[in-house]
Amino acid sequence: MVVCAWGSRRITMRNLVVLALFVPFICALQLAGENFSPPVLPHTSFGFGGSAIGGSDNTSSVYIVSNTTELREALALPFSKTIYVNGTINGNQLPNGSFATCQDYIDMTGEPGAEIRQFNFTLYILGFNTTYMSMVDQAISDNVTFDGMNATDYKALIDHMNGWRPVVLDTQKAQVGFTFTNNTSLIGLDENSALNGINLYVHSVDNIWIRNLKLVSPKDCFPAPETFPSSWNAEYDAVGLVTSTNVWLDGCELQDQLDGEYVQPDIIDGWQVWSTMSAPKYIVDHQRQVDRFDGLFDCEDGTDNITFSHNIVRNHHKSMLLGGGTKEFNLDLGRMHFTIFGNHFNNSASRNPLMRFGTFDVFANVYETLNTAGPVFNPTNVTLERRTDLPDDAVFEYNLGVYNQSTVQLQDNVFVQTGPDANDTSRIFTISEATLPQFPARVCIHESNATTPPHFLSTLNGHAIDNLTTLAQDTIDFFVENGDAVEGAVIITCEDIGIGYTLPRSFDSAEEVLNYVLEQAGQSLQT
Ligand SMILES: *[C@@H]1O[C@H](CO)[C@@H](O)[C@H](O)[C@H]1NC(C)=O
Ligand SMILES: *[C@@H]1O[C@H](CO)[C@@H](O)[C@H](O)[C@H]1NC(C)=O
Ligand SMILES: *[C@@H]1O[C@H](CO)[C@@H](O)[C@H](O)[C@H]1NC(C)=O
Ligand SMILES: *[C@@H]1O[C@H](CO)[C@@H](O)[C@H](O)[C@H]1NC(C)=O
Ligand SMILES: *[C@@H]1O[C@H](CO)[C@@H](O)[C@H](O)[C@H]1NC(C)=O
Ligand SMILES: *[C@@H]1O[C@H](CO)[C@@H](O)[C@H](O)[C@H]1NC(C)=O
Ligand SMILES: *[C@@H]1O[C@H](CO)[C@@H](O)[C@H](O)[C@H]1NC(C)=O
Ligand SMILES: *[C@@H]1O[C@H](CO)[C@@H](O)[C@H](O)[C@H]1NC(C)=O
Ligand SMILES: *[C@@H]1O[C@H](CO)[C@@H](O)[C@H](O)[C@H]1NC(C)=O
Ligand SMILES: *[C@@H]1O[C@H](CO)[C@@H](O)[C@H](O)[C@H]1NC(C)=O
Ligand SMILES: *[C@@H]1O[C@H](CO)[C@@H](O)[C@H](O)[C@H]1NC(C)=O
Ligand SMILES: *[C@@H]1O[C@H](CO)[C@@H](O)[C@H](O)[C@H]1NC(C)=O
Repeated sequence: MVVCAWGSRRITMRNLVVLALFVPFICALQLAGENFSPPVLPHTSFGFGGSAIGGSDNTSSVYIVSNTTELREALALPFSKTIYVNGTINGNQLPNGSFATCQDYIDMTGEPGAEIRQFNFTLYILGFNTTYMSMVDQAISDNVTFDGMNATDYKALIDHMNGWRPVVLDTQKAQVGFTFTNNTSLIGLDENSALNGINLYVHSVDNIWIRNLKLVSPKDCFPAPETFPSSWNAEYDAVGLVTSTNVWLDGCELQDQLDGEYVQPDIIDGWQVWSTMSAPKYIVDHQRQVDRFDGLFDCEDGTDNITFSHNIVRNHHKSMLLGGGTKEFNLDLGRMHFTIFGNHFNNSASRNPLMRFGTFDVFANVYETLNTAGPVFNPTNVTLERRTDLPDDAVFEYNLGVYNQSTVQLQDNVFVQTGPDANDTSRIFTISEATLPQFPARVCIHESNATTPPHFLSTLNGHAIDNLTTLAQDTIDFFVENGDAVEGAVIITCEDIGIGYTLPRSFDSAEEVLNYVLEQAGQSLQT
């Protein structure tokens, strides 16, 4: 094995051993070098993730990467480091430089000629269709061909798909998934820096900075239907935090594709109309559509001390899932402290964020939304027109999801809505899975100027929402009445809830928040 010296870095005996175990392929990586002048970024870490100091920026630990091979090698280095991303790195770029398609992931699975390379996503979907499969069975018992094929062989082939799917999925995952080591800063060199179709899987690590990057999540080539024929369970988040601590994500733009626009779901055969999901709550008619995206920033399994600040969360379906589910409550309770500050949620259809089991300070964010789906309560007209280029799965559902045993603190948020339901306030909150009055979810809303730090009534379209506390209570009452929550399992209170740290700044008006967020959110260098 050749061990490359990373520029002038001194390699200790211990590092050598660790490297031999984990990074046997090192060579391409180059240190940024003495002459490199790093970009100067705005903002410093604060809030619950304020203890994240990032990786070392000594000359001997600073790397510049511009393709998947280099990114993977740099992230694997078992010491404190700073990695700058130069340009766009495409997650599907193979080590030989070519760009993998979904079919390539199938063709790369197993040995040449292996049966599994017959995996076909259309056949996988057809296998769920009992009507279709009983037609195949009928052909078998009639001893006739089906669609020109031997029916017995065709059924045997379809029966393999379910077992093959996770294996071909692993081939894509190995390509587009990137894991972290402790004490790492991953930073965009300039405003063109992007990770395109990459899943940053931040598992069991401490002290991470992710800054100044466009983060475009990978499209899942092989998603599974959650409940046929309705929703999908896609695999990849743009950023996923699992059991990690002290993470600061700042100045990033999280979205479905490089240009920031929505990705229309794929239309596929064998997957037909479904429509009603307790309308008028969701007026959706997914018609043979596959949702290939998961979250943009999903955090779970006892992750703690995270600040998500000055980011743009744009044109996405399910954006931020903070708390994986009830089954993980014992990992999450007492952990999951998040500061969500100064972000611009721009047409993010749901989970801005969805909050379970933790402590969530949601301050000074701008929520800009095209609201078209009709109010959740007091429905008036459920067949309103909507933007035609908007995928059905991107139709606005709600902003703040208050779930099981969460403590949610709100201050200085600004809501800007357009569209036929611009004045609808019934989708600012949603309440779910709140069933335990003995361990209630708590919502604390700071609305007056009377206490410090200064803050003001949250606003909708420039007008003070009259008032957010009342609205939160109305929403709770609706969901209790609807059977989605139990009386007393969500309460509005600020008792024993406060802000234990200094915020980057305070605001005296909605206009100040709007100006600040529009200027500070997203990629930028210090000028
Ligand atoms: C970034 O990549 C560009 C294009 O390949 C190159 O010209 C430039 O020197 C790189 N920047 C740094 C700091 O390495
Ligand atoms: C990745 O970048 C390194 C350093 O510039 C280069 O040696 C290598 O060939 C590149 N790999 C691909 C697949 O382009
Ligand atoms: C997958 O199956 C469908 C339906 O039989 C077929 O139209 C398509 O050509 C197949 N794809 C490949 C790559 O074989
Ligand atoms: C089924 O059809 C094939 C081809 O037509 C024929 O060779 C075979 O004998 C048939 N089997 C039975 C059990 O009828
Ligand atoms: C289809 O193939 C099976 C064996 O795989 C054979 O038993 C059957 O007769 C064939 N059916 C027809 C209609 O040819
Ligand atoms: C990060 O450090 C912790 C504590 O030293 C260790 O338990 C963990 O395995 C490390 N994570 C990785 C991915 O190396
Ligand atoms: C199942 O297949 C049948 C027959 O091809 C088709 O008519 C039906 O629409 C399919 N159902 C779904 C849910 O895709
Ligand atoms: C999060 O930070 C607090 C305050 O510094 C600390 O007490 C706690 O242990 C941290 N959580 C984890 C899981 O390290
Ligand atoms: C509902 O909205 C649609 C589209 O704007 C309109 O055509 C229809 O007349 C409305 N129906 C009622 C009952 O207001
Ligand atoms: C929203 O309310 C304002 C006045 O409060 C009104 O002028 C405007 O027409 C309403 N917009 C819609 C889409 O109903
Ligand atoms: C908060 O203070 C500002 C400036 O002093 C004032 O314009 C605004 O009306 C006050 N808001 C409330 C809710 O009292
Ligand atoms: C908001 O309404 C509640 C009653 O629902 C009231 O107690 C509270 O004083 C109001 N807050 C402001 C700032 O107007």
